[in-house]
Amino acid sequence: MPTTDEAVAQAALDTQTGPTSPTAADSGASASASFRSTEQYSSAGLTTDTARVDALARALLGAVHQVISDHEVTYPEFQAAKKWLMDVGEGGEWPLFLDVFVEHAVEEVAARKQTGTVGTILGPYYLPGQVQLTTPATLPARPDEAGTPLAFRGQVTDTTGAPVPGAVLDIWQADEQGYYSGFAPDIPAGNLRGVVTADVEGRFEIRTIQPAPYQVPTDGPTGALISAAGWHPWRPAHLHLLVSAPGRRTVTTQLYFAGGEYLDSDVAEAVKPELVLDPTDVGDGSREVTYDFVLEDA
Ligand code: DHB
Ligand code: FE
Repeated sequence: MPTTDEAVAQAALDTQTGPTSPTAADSGASASASFRSTEQYSSAGLTTDTARVDALARALLGAVHQVISDHEVTYPEFQAAKKWLMDVGEGGEWPLFLDVFVEHAVEEVAARKQTGTVGTILGPYYLPGQVQLTTPATLPARPDEAGTPLAFRGQVTDTTGAPVPGAVLDIWQADEQGYYSGFAPDIPAGNLRGVVTADVEGRFEIRTIQPAPYQVPTDGPTGALISAAGWHPWRPAHLHLLVSAPGRRTVTTQLYFAGGEYLDSDVAEAVKPELVLDPTDVGDGSREVTYDFVLEDA
């Protein structure tokens, strides 16, 4: 149970951010719980190669020592860093922090060996086991879901251009306020999430709404670093996708929107030019766009 002080502080935050805003503590805890339930979490560290651990740990610590030396880091700064690292852990914010500031570098290394549709970061807000739909599909949404309707169509092929039967698009996105179901209060479970099976030629049509830009929660330690450093906490609006098919390597990617805010200054540095959609207005207030995916052999 929260102490009185915590409850008062939480109430102050609630009025500050409004009842539908997720707090950093909520998002952090949910993202941590979500990661703990994954196979990647369970298998992490099962194989430890001493030489590899030695090389990586030595290089990482060496880089830290170099920063301290080059920037003449002081004792008060070292203690502030220690406190901040403790706060990130206690706030459950490591998945948020690492997916924003570190995952893109890991993804760029993985991408060196990949062909097919360009990938980008997974982020902390994927949830498995969402509703299974068949093309043409409409993502689950509230009756009054705000946002410009978007018809998203395309085809999944292999690297020779041949249609891939049995392709599945696992899609998730923020709503028109930039919030994800499962990680923000007041949004029904499974909202704007779905697992869509394409037709026998890999073709799909998914009806949804255009998401809004996403803001890293600003009221926790990750937000404190962002504001202390004078950075902005925004990611451009995006759709998340896992595109898979039997015998193919699953593509983990995101699609962005031409002309959208923060495309050139994504806090997570996960935008790639190949991943920017440019939907056209249909004329009835809705928009449509086509994007084809290419899956390499597994
Ligand atoms: C984070 C959130 C996202 O929606 C995303 O795509 C990547 C990272 C984050 O807060 O860590
Ligand atoms: Fe996201």
